[in-house]
Amino acid sequence: MKLLILVSCLFGISSCLEEFIQWNQIEYENIPETGNFQFIQYNNVPQGFAPYKDKIFVAVPRRNQGIPSTLNYVKLEPGQDVYTNPKLHSYPNYETNELDATNQANPNRIVSVYRPRVDECDRLWAVDSGVISTSGNASVIQRPSIWVFDLKTDQLVKRFEIPEHVVRDGRGLASITVDVIDCNGNSFAYIPDLLNSEMIIYNMQEDKAYRMQHNYFRMNPFEGDYDVDGLKFSWEDGIFSITLSNRDKDGYRTAYFHPMSSFTEFAVSTKILRNETSATRGYHGNDVKVVGNRGKNTQSTMHSYHAATGVIYYAQINKNAVSCWNSDRELKAANFKEVVRDDTKLIYPADLKIYGDDLYVLSNRMIRHIYSKLDTNEVNFRIFKISIKDARCSATHTRRRKYRN
Ligand SMILES: *[C@@H]1O[C@H](CO)[C@@H](O)[C@H](O)[C@H]1NC(C)=O
Ligand SMILES: *[C@@H]1O[C@H](CO)[C@@H](O)[C@H](O)[C@H]1NC(C)=O
Repeated sequence: MKLLILVSCLFGISSCLEEFIQWNQIEYENIPETGNFQFIQYNNVPQGFAPYKDKIFVAVPRRNQGIPSTLNYVKLEPGQDVYTNPKLHSYPNYETNELDATNQANPNRIVSVYRPRVDECDRLWAVDSGVISTSGNASVIQRPSIWVFDLKTDQLVKRFEIPEHVVRDGRGLASITVDVIDCNGNSFAYIPDLLNSEMIIYNMQEDKAYRMQHNYFRMNPFEGDYDVDGLKFSWEDGIFSITLSNRDKDGYRTAYFHPMSSFTEFAVSTKILRNETSATRGYHGNDVKVVGNRGKNTQSTMHSYHAATGVIYYAQINKNAVSCWNSDRELKAANFKEVVRDDTKLIYPADLKIYGDDLYVLSNRMIRHIYSKLDTNEVNFRIFKISIKDARCSATHTRRRKYRN
């Protein structure tokens, strides 16, 4: 039985997709009756998540009006494997997620979060873009900021406002990757800016941010066309996802990254990123490497490195799929394997995370929400859980590739 599942999974049939959480539409627990918590259910589309113990954090960015809370979680119950329409609980509370009624900047409030992240020090990291969209028009409410919560106490341990000389506004800040040096306050966060095609680097110990610019952060103009769920569109999103390898002997990691509208994967050592002088210099020489081309129509939202195997998993928006690449091998189409594909359930895999030895993927049919209409009688938003054992990529180690300086 196990073997059968494994084989089906490797052949790209959807049988290894374990339904974990599914929603037709999003509901919230106990929305306060007073205050500014307008709720227009249809506008609530989850974009990102992060598993942590008995919680799954779920972010609903304010891409439209009527989102009562942007940072939330689903409470998991012991022994329960499948959740249907579970309600979201505001995190850390509704007050922090409440919008100012007159759209004033407020450092105590979170405006909009896309893809939060949990690190190995039991902390939740989230970027507040500070931006609300209304029918496609973005309004900048406040400076983008990084929020770090201690998950053992649910207390805010850090809020860092990203200054204007680093980024003009937060419209392009849709994910965050954390590079923990130690749990005593020495960490870096790497934030891709998909709109300006830049990388923002936050040094927690020194409590400062700087930005890196490089032409490899841009989209490829020949690789920005999409055909998903019968809808065709062109997107120009630049650098979208950053994932980190294990530490090398020198203590640094390889940061793998890709622009969304691109088939190419790139890499840069965290030795460059962590050093402000190197990261911000105008001419980068060969600091940033081309890792390889994944093949046609392999545009990806998020990707994630599995520490125990060195395999990187990719959420594939133009294929309704999850694919993988063993980072010990050369990156080319033949070594880029489809793990699972489902043209109904995996439409727009918006986020992908590895937690322990499980791979989690969130799909939300955002394409329909933008260009067509969701049928609220169907399941529209899903989080899948796939055991990494069943999503094995390729065990063959041919040669060790290096993208380091
Ligand atoms: C969004 O902007 C467009 C163009 O400026 C305008 O026509 C439209 O009315 C705006 N929509 C809303 C909801 O403000
Ligand atoms: C940072 O990089 C510069 C060169 O780009 C180098 O001169 C300097 O020593 C580095 N600093 C540290 C702390 O490694």
